[in-house]
This record gives sequence, structure tokens and C-alpha cells, in this order.
Amino acid sequence: MSFIEQLFNLSEQWQCVNGLLWIIFAFGIIKFTTLILRTCALITDLFLLPAVDYSKYGAGKGKYCVVTGASDGIGKEFANQMAARGFNLVLISRTLSKLEALKEEFEKKYGIKVEILAIDISSDSQDNYEFIKGLCKDLPITVLINNVGQSHSIPVPFLETEEEELRNIITINNTATLLITQIIAPIISKTVKETKKSRGLILTMGSFGGLIPTPLLATYSGSKAFLQQWSTSLAGELQKDNIDVELVLSYLVTSSMSKIRRTSMMIPNPSKFVKATLSNVGRRCGAQERYGTMTPFWSHAIYEFIIEETFGVFSKIVNTINYSFHKSIRVRALKKAARLAKKQ
Ligand SMILES: NC(=O)c1ccc[n+]([C@@H]2O[C@H](COP(=O)([O-])OP(=O)(O)OC[C@H]3O[C@@H](n4cnc5c(N)ncnc54)[C@H](OP(=O)(O)O)[C@@H]3O)[C@@H](O)[C@H]2O)c1
Repeated sequence: MSFIEQLFNLSEQWQCVNGLLWIIFAFGIIKFTTLILRTCALITDLFLLPAVDYSKYGAGKGKYCVVTGASDGIGKEFANQMAARGFNLVLISRTLSKLEALKEEFEKKYGIKVEILAIDISSDSQDNYEFIKGLCKDLPITVLINNVGQSHSIPVPFLETEEEELRNIITINNTATLLITQIIAPIISKTVKETKKSRGLILTMGSFGGLIPTPLLATYSGSKAFLQQWSTSLAGELQKDNIDVELVLSYLVTSSMSKIRRTSMMIPNPSKFVKATLSNVGRRCGAQERYGTMTPFWSHAIYEFIIEETFGVFSKIVNTINYSFHKSIRVRALKKAARLAKKQ
């Protein structure tokens, strides 16, 4: 090959490398720009926008909000803060005495109407759904909060999960949530159609347990991941009916389910968590990549954002860390149970 031919070949190779470098540079610019835009959206949603106005959902106009799992924890706070916004309530939960106490408290404190229904949702009986239908069919409902949920009593390997616990988790978190929504959503749609400039809202409690595959909470994790797909699909279907559908993602919150009593930067109490949720409905906050999904509490939102932008929720490293975390909780829970058994 002559010297001129060799030079020509080299310059062809250089052109290829040069082209490749330009493509990598362009990808870098696109990635960097989207990261900057998503960070700006996160900050705007979490810290800059004013709280959502609930008059579009009929606040203070005699409209009803249905809350499941309303007698304790996050559900009780949803009921309290929706009542404070001027909604009448339908409270569905297990323990009648707790519901009666809430009815008395809210009616006195907020001057609203409160209907209550005590049922065991884990039984999945037709009677339960008939009771809900009977109670709700003639009420002007605009909001449904699918809050009721159950997790494992302690982290447990899937193969050792008791059948009753497995069935209860799927029945409460999935079957009942879907069937209750099938009863209430048409009522919301009817109310919205009959009321000028009104919208409906369906919130469903998801969890970081469903966002990130969670070893030793496998059934709970799967049940909450199911709610993500279902709720976001429903969001697409009900858009035409002016009903906003949102899955609410949460890391830990103090409650009897989480068995955590002390709050911290990462673990708010139900009051702070629900305040963030209701203020931000319709905004993704930490769930920047997910339509119809919100991670409303600021530290949870930043935590999710960092995981999504680095390793990703399905990575092996996140799965391994999650496994170690829940394994240590299991070890502590088993030790505590052994101590209690010794005392008896
Ligand atoms: N707490 C957390 O760290 C956390 C994190 C992420 C997501 N979440 C989700 O948030 C939601 C609420 O959790 P939470 O921590 O507030 O729970 P919680 O404090 O244990 O309250 C659960 C509520 O659901 C009711 N309930 C439970 N089983 C029932 C059944 N079989 N039939 C009827 N009602 C039943 C309870 O009624 P009684 O009062 O009568 O028992 C109570 O009102 C759940 O969907 C959960 O998965 C919680």
C-alpha cells in the first residue's frame, strides 16, 4: 500500500472515531438535559407549587369521600384531612367502636355527615360488597381513597409464608380494592356528570415495597406492584370521565402496620404524610417517570429519585441491600417473639 493510500485509510478511521465521539457526546447532552429537567420538576413539585385546590373535587359542596381502612394510621388521617376540607365521609374499616368514635369526632369538629361501615375486608364475601353498594349508591361521591392494606406480620421467606397470610394480603390489597373501585367509580362518574365543572379522584395506596422488589416481603411486594399497573391503566381509562386516578407511593410511615413509633427525616407520621399527599395530588414529585403516580413526601421522593437515576429499582445491588435490611428486621422480630414466649 502506498504512503498516500495509508494516509487516506487513517483519515477514514479517524472520521469513524470522530463520528462515534459525536454520537456519545449527543447522548450525554440528552441524558444530562433530561436529568436537569427532571430535577427541576422534582424541586418544583415538592417545594414550589402551592397546595392543590379541592374545590374542583367538590370540597364544601356536600360531596362525599370514601376511605377504606379508615379507622387507624394513614386512612384515619386521610379521613380527618378530607373532612377538614369540607367533604362528607363514608368510612369503611374493621372495628366498629373505632369508626363510631371517629364519626362522633368528625361530625362535631367539622359539621359534616359521616357514614360508617364495619366489615372484615379479608373475608371477600359478596355481602361486604352488597353493604358497600347499599350504603353508597345514592350518595354524591367524588373521591375514593383505596387505603386499606395488609403486609406480612414480620419479614418471612416466601416459601415459609402461611397460606392464610398470603391469601389475606392478596384479597385485601388486590381483590377487594378492585371490587370496591368497581362499585364506587361509576358513582363518582355519575356525580361528576351531574355537577358542572367537577372532577373525580381515586387515590390508591401503593408502597416502596411494590416499587422495589422486596425479598422477605415477596407477597406484599407483588400485591403493591400489581396496584401500580392496575391503577395507572385505570388512569388512562377514566381520563375521559374527568376522574383523576393516582397511585400513592410511600416509604415507611409510623403506624401499627409498620410497627414504627418514632418519626425521623425518612419516616413521617401519618398526619405529615397525608398532608403532603393531599397537597400534591396530580403531581409526580419523586415518581418523575411514572404517569398517574406520586411519591409525595419529600424525603421519600428524593430517595426514589436517587435510586431511579442511579442503580434502578430492579438492580441486583438494590435487591441485595433490601434483602439484608429485611433479614435484620426478621432476626430482631424473631428474637423479640422468643423473649415474649419465655416470659409467658
Ligand atoms: N405504614 C407504612 O409504613 C406504609 C408504607 C407504605 C404503604 N403503606 C400502605 O398504607 C396503607 C395504610 O397503612 P397503615 O400503615 O395506615 O396501616 P394501619 O395503621 O395498620 O391501618 C390499617 C387500616 O386498615 C383497616 N383494616 C386492616 N385490615 C382490615 C380488614 N381485614 N378489613 C377491614 N379493615 C381492615 C384497619 O382497621 P382496624 O383499625 O379496625 O384494625 C385500619 O383502619 C396500606 O395500604 C399500606 O400498605 C403503609
